[in-house]
Amino acid sequence: MSEFEFYLPVEVVFGAGCVSKVGQIARRFGFKALIITGKKSTKENGALDRVLDSLRKAGVGEVLVFDGIETNPTDKLVNEASQMAVREKVDFIIGLGGGSALDTAKAVSIVSSNEGYAWDYVNYPEGPRLIPFLNRPVICIPTTAGTGSEVNRYSVISNPIRREKLVISHSLNYPRVAIVDPELTVSMNPRLTAITGIDAFMHALESFTNRAYNPLADELAIRSAKIIKDWLPVAIEEPQNLKAREMMSYAAMLAGIAIDKKRVALIHAMEHPVSAHYPHVIHGEGLAALAPAVTEFNHRGNPEKYGLFAEALGYPRKAFKAVDVVIDLLQKVNLRVSLKSLGVRRESIEKLAEDVCLLSWNSFHLNPVEPSQEDIYRLYNRAYEGF
Ligand SMILES: [Fe+2]
Repeated sequence: MSEFEFYLPVEVVFGAGCVSKVGQIARRFGFKALIITGKKSTKENGALDRVLDSLRKAGVGEVLVFDGIETNPTDKLVNEASQMAVREKVDFIIGLGGGSALDTAKAVSIVSSNEGYAWDYVNYPEGPRLIPFLNRPVICIPTTAGTGSEVNRYSVISNPIRREKLVISHSLNYPRVAIVDPELTVSMNPRLTAITGIDAFMHALESFTNRAYNPLADELAIRSAKIIKDWLPVAIEEPQNLKAREMMSYAAMLAGIAIDKKRVALIHAMEHPVSAHYPHVIHGEGLAALAPAVTEFNHRGNPEKYGLFAEALGYPRKAFKAVDVVIDLLQKVNLRVSLKSLGVRRESIEKLAEDVCLLSWNSFHLNPVEPSQEDIYRLYNRAYEGF
């Protein structure tokens, strides 16, 4: 075994109903909270009230709510919420919602505690413009099972003016606590369940098969993929099935840790320009459109890992069977989509391919097969009509 490292400074509290502990946990961080959440769902499904109630009971004196989060959060939104955090001198931040709310909460922690703006901290291949040296405590409470943001150092942020989607990745961007309560995911509709679950699956697939080395992260990734294959269809069929929801929350968390250690690969690198140029596209849908073609391209570059992946999910131990694994699961969860069906225009493919090379070239060496711009252009075209 070669040398590897594993650092995870996030306290995890996991279990049905555990959101009621947020007040007691939050007390150690101070008395003034900023909750970052979406416009609707956490109000409608009662999650926000449960958090507010718990904070009040624990004596957290003041709670502000920033509820402007939508899918594909922007740098502008992070800046606005950060200004609020500074102006109001909040002690800590709670991210409540899907990946967008959690990513924003983490980014606000950085931006509100250092100089500059959100876009100064995103990772261009040449590095970010500024390096943070402080943060505010963040508690992440996911209401979907997909992103894994509650346990890792990433915040994915879009810049609509530059039409770029980039990642803040820094050890100060870890939340202090992840409160993972599967009950909060029960109100997700079947489509959102599928889209977010497929995101987690792609985290497992990409981290397991890329060229980074971390056997401990591999254990988490493969376990996560197995759980998702077995339980995502159940969570979609039976939204109220708490066992299925628990397994999905658990799997999303495992995959979220796996990508923290091993990163992702070309499916994610190609998805980001898609939702940067087409902000209505949800991350998981974009991944679903790209995954079959990219997996077909990638599997030859790491046959051993793709073979193991296929075998772990009940297929013959052959690298090319991983393509079937992906297609079969997408079929089962009703996400066999094409870029065309998501509203991507064919004329933009050249620009998308250019952006992948411009913004992600520094991760190409981690991909199972190192792609050229021509390869990427070809893969977008294959995913355009549907693979
Ligand atoms: Fe993702």
